Amino acid sequence: MKIVVTGGLGFIGSHTVVELQNEGFEVVAIDNLSNSSEKVLDGIFNITGKKPIFEKMDLRDKASVQNFFKKHNDVAGVIHFAASKAVGESVENPLLYYENNISALVYVLQELAALPNVNFIFSSSCTVYGQAEKMPITEDAPVQQAMSPYGNTKQIGEEIITDVAKVTHINAILLRYFNPIGSHPSAEIGELPLGVPQNLVPFITQTAIGLREKLSVFGDDYPTADGTAIRDYIHVVDLAKAHVVALKRLLEKNNADKVETFNLGTGKGSSVLEVITAFEKVSGQKLNYQIVGRREGDITEAYANIDKANTVLGWKAQSSLEESLASAWKWEQKIRQQ
Ligand code: UD1
Repeated sequence: MKIVVTGGLGFIGSHTVVELQNEGFEVVAIDNLSNSSEKVLDGIFNITGKKPIFEKMDLRDKASVQNFFKKHNDVAGVIHFAASKAVGESVENPLLYYENNISALVYVLQELAALPNVNFIFSSSCTVYGQAEKMPITEDAPVQQAMSPYGNTKQIGEEIITDVAKVTHINAILLRYFNPIGSHPSAEIGELPLGVPQNLVPFITQTAIGLREKLSVFGDDYPTADGTAIRDYIHVVDLAKAHVVALKRLLEKNNADKVETFNLGTGKGSSVLEVITAFEKVSGQKLNYQIVGRREGDITEAYANIDKANTVLGWKAQSSLEESLASAWKWEQKIRQQ
C-alpha cells in the first residue's frame, strides 16, 4: 500500500518513514530539503534495509503537486509533515509561514479531493491550546488565539482540513504533538537543527558537546514547583509509531468521525530543571547553564491528557524521559564525530 509522507526527510517525518517501512508500507517521501538532507535516506536504509521512493519537490509549486498526484493516483494515505516550525522566524516572516504551511496544504488537498478514497494525517501541535486552563490538557480544551503566525498556521490547517473533509472523500486525523525529542536508538537518524537551536533538548546536547558555551534557562519564576516551565517531552519514535497506528485506523475504517483529533504526549510534565537533571544523569555530563529571564510567548505548563489516544487510538508512549534524552545524546555524539 502506497503512503506519501511530505517532509519525509525531516525530524519526525524520517522517523515515521522508518516505522511505515517496518510495517510493510511502500513509502513515497517528498521533501524540498530546506531543513533536511538527502543523507537521511542512507540513515533510513541502514535501519530498514530499504530506501523510500524520494521526490525532491516544493509543495508551494502547484504544478509540481498536480503532476506528483497524477503519477501517484493510487495513494492510500498522505501524512503531511512538510512545514516550517520556528516560532520566532514566523513572527519575522509571516508570509513565508502562510505560504509554506497553508498554500502547500491547500494544493495537496486540492489533488486529494479528486481521489475516490484517501486518508490524511496532519501534524498539528499542542500550541493550539495556548496556556490551557486545566492540566492535563484534553482534546476538547478550547483552541485559543494563536500567539504566533506559526501557531496560527496549525489552527488554520486544522480548520481547512475539517471543512474539506465534510465535502470530499477525505478522512483525516489531526495529531497534536506535545514536545518531540530524541532520535532513533540506532543513531542513524535524528534531529538536525539549522543554526542555533531554539528548542531545549538540541540546545542541551549541543552545549554538552561543546558547541555552545552554556544553556540559558528561560525563567525560574513560573508558578511551578521549581519555578521553571513544564512541558510534556515525547520520544520521536513513539510519536512516529502513533502515525502508523492512526493511519491504520483510517485504512481499516475504524474512525468514528471524518475528522478526529488526538493529543500525542506522555501525559507527564517535566520542568526545564528536571530535564537538565535527567540529561546529566544519562550522559554523565555536567551541563553549564544559567537562569535568565523568561522567553517572550512562553507558557507556564502544558502536558497531555492521553486517555483518548490510549483508549480510542490504542497507542501509548513507551519511552521514559531518560531514554529519550539518552537517544538525543547518542545522536549528538555521533554527528559530531563525522
Ligand atoms: C516550541 C514552540 C511550539 C512548537 C515546538 C516545536 C514556542 C513558544 N513554542 O515549543 O509552538 O510546536 O517548539 O518543537 O516557541 N527553554 C530554555 N532554554 C532554551 C530553550 C528552551 O529554557 O534554550 C525552555 C522554554 O522556555 C520552554 C522549554 O524549555 O519552557 C521547552 O522549549 P522548546 O523546546 O523551545 O519548546 P516549546 O517552547 O514548548
